[in-house]
Amino acid sequence: MSRAQAHKRPFAALFAVVATLCCLLAGGAMAADPIVIKFSHVVAPDTPKGKAAQKFKELAEAYSEGAVRVDIYPEGRLYQDKEEMEALQLGAVEMLAPSLAKFGALGLPQFELFDLPYLVRDYDELAKITKGPVGAELLGLLQARGIKGLAYWDNGFKIMSANRPLHLPQDFRGLKMRIQASRALEAQMLALGASPVIFGFSDVYQALASGVVDGAENPPSNMFTQNIHLVQSHATLSRHGYLGYAVIVNQAFWNRLPPALQGQLERAMDEASDFGNSIARAENLAALQAMEATGSTVFHVMTEAERAQWVAALRPVHRQMAPRIGADLLERAYASLGQ
Ligand code: LMR
Repeated sequence: MSRAQAHKRPFAALFAVVATLCCLLAGGAMAADPIVIKFSHVVAPDTPKGKAAQKFKELAEAYSEGAVRVDIYPEGRLYQDKEEMEALQLGAVEMLAPSLAKFGALGLPQFELFDLPYLVRDYDELAKITKGPVGAELLGLLQARGIKGLAYWDNGFKIMSANRPLHLPQDFRGLKMRIQASRALEAQMLALGASPVIFGFSDVYQALASGVVDGAENPPSNMFTQNIHLVQSHATLSRHGYLGYAVIVNQAFWNRLPPALQGQLERAMDEASDFGNSIARAENLAALQAMEATGSTVFHVMTEAERAQWVAALRPVHRQMAPRIGADLLERAYASLGQ
């Protein structure tokens, strides 16, 4: 061996060690690539659903120690109402939290139970359904659609808005009212003498601003964050119906996750649900106050006599929708509410 060759040897050995280390590190980094959960929803980040989704992201990433990354796509930026269910079933997105009014389109009209007007008075009554056997049964129905139901998330109680006062049912006559794609909501608007028009959530502001529809129903948090108050002169605090969500994942994606990771995600979801459901009431109250402060909309507080007329006009929708929702399911929901 020449002197020059002998001199090169330690460098060659060092090079080999460095190259091996690089390979190991690169391999290690690849193995540690997180599983990405794309979580798409249609509302603003600053809403009960937006905040619960953010909490889930933080907890899921912490409990899985980085094995999972949750990428949130709010405001319909990835998928809008019409496409998101199909995208979930195809595996193009892993997680959604559609409103319960949007499951009829999946062939599961039973979920329209939650759209029935004056079914529950408050969050506590609502929880008797979602946390009881009826709530579990409904989530179970999703399995046949390749979907796993993980949780129920609250938004709140809807108020009606338009560019005229809406004190009594007859005030709705002739109005075009935006609804979500739910037959129960359609029946509700027809019972008030209005014409229901289906629009995806992301188009509601524009539809109202351009006069394509005259009015809408929403919990205050959605109304405020979409600036709907700026294009509606009147609203009635009717609390005539509830709007909430089911958090759902693609079942095949879920089944591929290691059991320990599923447990960590379930823990994150339970805690995020408790968090989201605990802030929903205050978030909606704050949104209402913020809208009142702008002075753009007159918010009408119903009298007891007015409420009685709304209830009389709308409760018959329950009977009308019973065949679609399932008379038996409806009876069991009533029973859990003590009705
Ligand atoms: C709506 O379309 O009005 C709501 O479902 C939007 C939402 O997700 O809260």
